[in-house]
Formats: sequence, structure tokens, C-alpha cells
Amino acid sequence: MGKTILVTGGAGYIGSHTVVELLAAGHDVVIVDDLVNSSSASIDAVRAIAGRDVAFVEAGVGDAAALDEVFAAWPIEAVIHFAGLKAVGESVEQPLRYYRRNLAATSVLLEAMDRHQVRDLVFSSSCTVYGDPAVVPVDETAPIGAVNPYGRTKLFIEEMCRDVAFADPRWRLVLLRYFNPVGAHASGRIGEDPRGIPNNLLPFIMQVAVGRRHELQVFGGDYPTRDGTCIRDYIHVVDLAQGHLAALDSMDMLGAGAHAVNLGTGQGTTVLEMVAAAAEAVGRPIPFAVVGRRPGDAAEVYADATLAADVLGWTATRSVAEMCADHWAWQRTHPNGFAD
Ligand code: UD1
Repeated sequence: MGKTILVTGGAGYIGSHTVVELLAAGHDVVIVDDLVNSSSASIDAVRAIAGRDVAFVEAGVGDAAALDEVFAAWPIEAVIHFAGLKAVGESVEQPLRYYRRNLAATSVLLEAMDRHQVRDLVFSSSCTVYGDPAVVPVDETAPIGAVNPYGRTKLFIEEMCRDVAFADPRWRLVLLRYFNPVGAHASGRIGEDPRGIPNNLLPFIMQVAVGRRHELQVFGGDYPTRDGTCIRDYIHVVDLAQGHLAALDSMDMLGAGAHAVNLGTGQGTTVLEMVAAAAEAVGRPIPFAVVGRRPGDAAEVYADATLAADVLGWTATRSVAEMCADHWAWQRTHPNGFAD
């Protein structure tokens, strides 16, 4: 039986891919998004992919009155909460904006859910809550401690969810700790569309491939890894989206409480391996220069993805080659993102 799911941030990169999977699984979706870092064109593209309508309310998650209207208008049974800012450097410069838009807004959302008797939540957390992990692969029992304001908003929201679950056993909260989402829907109609200069590796590489940037700067070639560049756990955004459906479907089994679960592949890839895989997908070399380290980067972060397999019955299946091919199919046809 399909449910009605409220998806905050459903116009964004991971949100839009998750909405496609929810619709394909027979759920109805209401998107709440203020479009501050996304485009309504992605919602139109999602409707076209799904061949179905999606309700959309342009509002921020911190707007209690708007949320009350949404909960009154639709029979929402669960919430998937993506909305939030996610640029580390920006969070260092504008910490209060991050605390308001991520942390304070989430408390407004949880209060609205409570008022309307909706207490099933899937939250977009991040492997950033592990900071620079002492041991890899990193599992959910590892110490948590973020190293910048963005990361702290994710960490504090997790703590808030644990407090809420402790206070009231009617809550079921799944805190999904994403590793590095990349790629795009196989249709090439939705994908990541960063504003300004991309902070993340694959979006930057793809903008080089499409001619928007001259060359990639590889941050650091002297890490203690197999080729001297940092290792990350890149995960195809469609696998990640499907992890959210698995979380929703596992709520009865998981039961009361706040449950943190890694969503990664368990495979580490270096920056240079990613550059080579992207070049293969694009069909020509990606110009790059190795420069100094980026402050705050950990040498090696990849997931122990065992818990997700055990409790969600979910495992990532798509390869790095598919991630690059699908990301390229989106970027090639949308060199300027949704503006095309
Ligand atoms: C970044 C965020 C992290 C977030 C994660 C997933 C930072 C410091 N951290 O982590 O909070 O949870 O994305 O969205 O931004 N690289 C280059 N050149 C570039 C860009 C990146 O060499 O132009 C390297 C980085 O040094 C890193 C790797 O590529 O080794 C991946 O970088 P990035 O995509 O920014 O992801 P994370 O650093 O893992």
C-alpha cells in the first residue's frame, strides 16, 4: 500500500532522486522546498520521469504555519527530511545561517510532526559526523564529533533526534549517514546542479569535462594512501535514494528510537582513480594539477556498510564506472544545469 510522504528539500539533488524512487514504489509525495539552493525545474523533470504528479509547496522547513497547512491538507504518514545547507566553507563564514536553516528549522519540523501525530522520520545525516575517523572502514559505533559548523548541525540534529526518541517512544527516526553521493538518474533528466564553483570532486571534474572550468586541482598528493590522494566512499545517488525507501520499509522492524545507519558502498576510491574513471566515461582526459592539501580533509573515509545490509536489507549495487557515466550523461546534456 502506498503512503503519502512529505519530502523536505525534494527539489534538491538527493531529494529529487528519492522522490522518483518513492513514486515508482507507489507512494504519493508532497515536496516542501524553498528553492534557496535548488530549482523547480527538477520537480517538473521528476514528474516527467515518473509520469505522475507530485504536490509542491514552496516554503521553508522553519515556517511552522506553512507546515501546519501541509499536514492539514495531506494525510502524511512519514517525513523524509533533506532540506538544509551543505557547504562546509560557507558554514565557517556564516555559522548562524547554518544553525538557523539546518538545526532550528529541524526543531520546527519535529514540533509540527508531533502536533500532527506523524512520528516517522528519515533524516539526511552525513559521514561528516565521524570527523576524521581513527579507524576505517567506519561503522556506526565509531566516536562522533564534527569539525566544522555544517558538520555540527548534522551532529546536533542527530542528538536532538535521540533526545526526542528518548522522551517519547512513539517516535521512529532513521538517521542515514551518507558517504559521498555522485551520479545521476539514468534518464539524464535530473542531477546535481551546484551554484557557483563546485566544492565537491565529481561536479568539479564534470564542469572541466564540459568546458566550464580549465582544470581540476587535486588537493594533496602526499597522503599515506596507495597513490598519495585522499580516499572516499562514492555512492551512486540512485542507490542512495533506494536506501531511503529501504529505511521507510524497515520502520516496523526497527521500532521505536533513533537509529543511525551508514549509507555507503564500503569501497574506497582515490581522487586519481576517480579522475581516471571520469575520463573513461567522458572519452577524453581530464586535465588536472596536483596542488596543496585542502585544510580539514581526512586521508581516508569509507563506510562499513554492514548495518544497512542487516537492518535495512539494502546494499549499494552501482559501480564507480556507472556513477561517472550517469553523471556525465546529465552534465553533457545540461552543461549549465537546470538553466538548460
Ligand atoms: C565533502 C564535505 C563533507 C560532506 C561530503 C559529502 C568538505 C571539507 N567536506 O567531503 O562535509 O559530507 O563532501 O557531500 O567539503 N577534491 C579535489 N579537488 C576538488 C574537490 C575535491 O582534489 O576540486 C578532493 C578532496 O580533497 C577530497 C575528495 O576530492 O579528497 C572528495 O572531496 P569532496 O567531494 O569535497 O568530498 P569530501 O571531502 O569527502
